[in-house]
Amino acid sequence: MKLGIIGCGNLGSALVKGVLESEFDTDGHVLISTRKQQIPSKLEGLSVNVLPNKELTKNADVIVLCVLPNQIDAVLDEIKSEVDGSKLVVSTVTGVEISQIKNRLGNDQLQVVRAMPNTAIAVKESMTCIAFSSDVKENNKKLVRDLFDSVGITEVIREEQMSSATALTACGIAFFLRSIRAASQGGVEISFHSEEALKMAAQTALGAAKLLIENETHPEREIDKVTSPNGCTIIGLNEMEHSGFSSSFIKGIRKSAEKAGNLYVE
Ligand SMILES: NC(=O)c1ccc[n+]([C@@H]2O[C@H](COP(=O)([O-])OP(=O)(O)OC[C@H]3O[C@@H](n4cnc5c(N)ncnc54)[C@H](OP(=O)(O)O)[C@@H]3O)[C@@H](O)[C@H]2O)c1
Repeated sequence: MKLGIIGCGNLGSALVKGVLESEFDTDGHVLISTRKQQIPSKLEGLSVNVLPNKELTKNADVIVLCVLPNQIDAVLDEIKSEVDGSKLVVSTVTGVEISQIKNRLGNDQLQVVRAMPNTAIAVKESMTCIAFSSDVKENNKKLVRDLFDSVGITEVIREEQMSSATALTACGIAFFLRSIRAASQGGVEISFHSEEALKMAAQTALGAAKLLIENETHPEREIDKVTSPNGCTIIGLNEMEHSGFSSSFIKGIRKSAEKAGNLYVE
């Protein structure tokens, strides 16, 4: 299986790194395209071959689009002549619908899938949401799931939910990172050096996430185990809630989802 990735910025590079470290069979290397036609410095030393977009499309079985919404039309116009029913196109581009991609490629019989990973794909911990249209062949559905399962976990959703998935999981990386930063800043205020505080906050966040995932439990059940009556956890938690902690998180996610749906103008 030859994998080609068009656009090697933040997400494309993270995908290349993750896949090359995974069990997913890429025939030894990944084809990439960049605007400058050079291997980006962050991918130096990895098994990648740089090709122009059209050449990459000709040589790859699966083409993953990792360019910005305002860059996708130019890319689709460039690769259009090389995309036929034997190719699988996977778009990670926010806000661009499968039907819009097929229209631009000029053929509504093509195999096109949308996937929304996040940058944790570089460390094989992505949460990737995938949307298939009804005409995608079963073997291609499996291929896409295998690809993204090799670098994290996947969830199949309806295409209408893609903007919501973008907000919760792709933008979500930034939301959780900011909350870790806030926790570490709190740690500095109560005596720790910033590096110590950051390490302690990040490992605590990892532990909290693992408790939920490995125990398949609910946050409130785990919170109950930490909040003794009249104790120091509940007083801190309630102070955060009085300042709008949950509410601001929810409002931020709603805003991001709204924006994600309006990033592409045909
Ligand atoms: N970053 C995330 O966390 C994330 C998560 C999920 C989905 N996404 C989606 O993934 C896409 C890429 O996001 P990003 O954050 O990786 O953006 P980015 O860092 O700006 O990367 C886009 C890359 O595409 C390259 N590019 C632009 N036009 C090209 C062309 N014609 N041929 C080849 N390469 C071209 C750009 O090269 P130049 O630098 O030379 O312009 C740039 O390296 C977006 O649509 C975004 O919505 C991102």
